[in-house]
Amino acid sequence: MIFRLTALLAVLPLALVAVPSVASASDAAAGKVIFDANCSSCHGVSGKGDGPVGSALTPPPRNFTVGDFAFDPDGNGTKGENADLILVIQNGAMKYGGSPLMAPWPTLSEEQVNDIVAHIRSLKAGDATE
Ligand code: HEC
Repeated sequence: MIFRLTALLAVLPLALVAVPSVASASDAAAGKVIFDANCSSCHGVSGKGDGPVGSALTPPPRNFTVGDFAFDPDGNGTKGENADLILVIQNGAMKYGGSPLMAPWPTLSEEQVNDIVAHIRSLKAGDATE
């Protein structure tokens, strides 16, 4: 019995490590569905910032086909990394000195935000998947 328990405990950490790496694989196709429903009114389906609402805004919504991101919420000196985009989407741009029009999205799960970021990456010129 003691030996079995020891064997189980030895295997357990490996299982715990393996599960999150599978779950965190982001899915750009799922992200597109959420993006088109919630973000495209401003950012446009193409990501150019030319959605029906977005074309009228100052500052304009970021053009994702260029990818010139403005914020560095994680403060590591590099703007527009995945971690930065995730924080802007979760907390809104105003928290990082940007426009309140880029509102926080606390209702999206971490997985959904990861999927959206994967989709945003695919919108950059030359990287488009469709
Ligand atoms: C009401 C219009 C509007 C909607 C809806 C909107 N955004 Fe934005 N977004 C903006 C504006 C405006 C900016 C530019 C903010 C600035 O420059 O201060 C922006 C900027 C961004 C940025 C750029 C961050 C950076 O570092 O440059 C990301 C990423 C982003 N939005 C993602 C999203 C996602 C994902 C959604 C949907 C869940 C969304 N936005 C919905 C208006 C909007």
